[in-house]
Amino acid sequence: MKNITVIGAGTMGNGIAHVFAMNNYNVTLCDISENALSKAIETIDKNLWRMVAKEKITEEIKESTIKNIQTGTNLEECVKDADLVIEAATENESLKLSIFSDLDKFCKPDCILASNTSSISITKIASATERPDKVIGMHFMNPVPVMKLVEVIKGYATSDEITNSIMDLSKDLSKVPVEVNDYPGFVANRILLPMINEAISALFEGVAGVEEIDTVMKLGMAHPMGPLQLADFIGLDVCLSILEVLYDGFKQPKYAACPLLVNMVQAGKLGRKSGEGFYVYSRETKEVVVSPSFS
Ligand code: CAA
Repeated sequence: MKNITVIGAGTMGNGIAHVFAMNNYNVTLCDISENALSKAIETIDKNLWRMVAKEKITEEIKESTIKNIQTGTNLEECVKDADLVIEAATENESLKLSIFSDLDKFCKPDCILASNTSSISITKIASATERPDKVIGMHFMNPVPVMKLVEVIKGYATSDEITNSIMDLSKDLSKVPVEVNDYPGFVANRILLPMINEAISALFEGVAGVEEIDTVMKLGMAHPMGPLQLADFIGLDVCLSILEVLYDGFKQPKYAACPLLVNMVQAGKLGRKSGEGFYVYSRETKEVVVSPSFS
């Protein structure tokens, strides 16, 4: 595999493009918005400078990484030569089904179609194509250039051959792939989201404040971020949609989203990306400026 197309230039898409390009793959980053594409290239450039400053890469590698990335807004053009397409569009099932149906039409017959979905069924996504054996989940973690894990999700019909090649490819990116089966939330979010939801419930019930809850988990359990800060980082809308997938999939009350989370999403308090969640963030730097926003 040499030619990789990444669909969606948001946080995950630009992180995935960054990692492939830094490992000498030809990357095409595809988005419907020119503005999103230029912002993504700016972000990749900034993150590469950060790596140069930390002496993790040389300036030459930074330059070659940027050169390895093309951008485009026309899906058919962007995927026609791809050996692997990784979809990292918004977490919306009907949007993903429509993208995969188009990919199936536009891509070479042997092209592998992967989704970076955080919880939508790979088997369902594969059903939109005529090549379900070549559809797989490649779930990267945010921030993609830093986090080692790739959760490799084998759909009901995904072949062993495709799974093995995606496991090998992930290792080639210096990531650690873990193979999991296709059930709601896979492994990462089935465990992470109930923990975040429980932290929100503890806040909702007045057991402790935002900073207290986060401090307990940071200092008591050695988590790099507390669960409420992590929820803001992931996006409260994304957290809610993953909990809904878990709740719909298992029909168990333990996955029901805390009413406070639902309210905050309805109020547009989506975390770091909207400027406010459990904390308040600077619009420019995205750093916490008021901590916490919620009392
Ligand atoms: N690109 C490149 N390097 C980056 C980076 C980026 N976007 N962001 C951070 N870094 C590097 C920094 O340069 C720094 O490098 P050194 O260790 O060499 O100094 C390192 O990462 C740590 O960064 P900072 O010092 O700026 O900040 P920090 O120590 O607070 O760490 C963090 C930031 C890495 C994000 C850390 O807080 C962390 O690991 N948080 C938890 C992240 C997490 O849990 N991610 C998973 C979310 S769930 C998900 O993604 C799946 C889903 O489906 C919801």
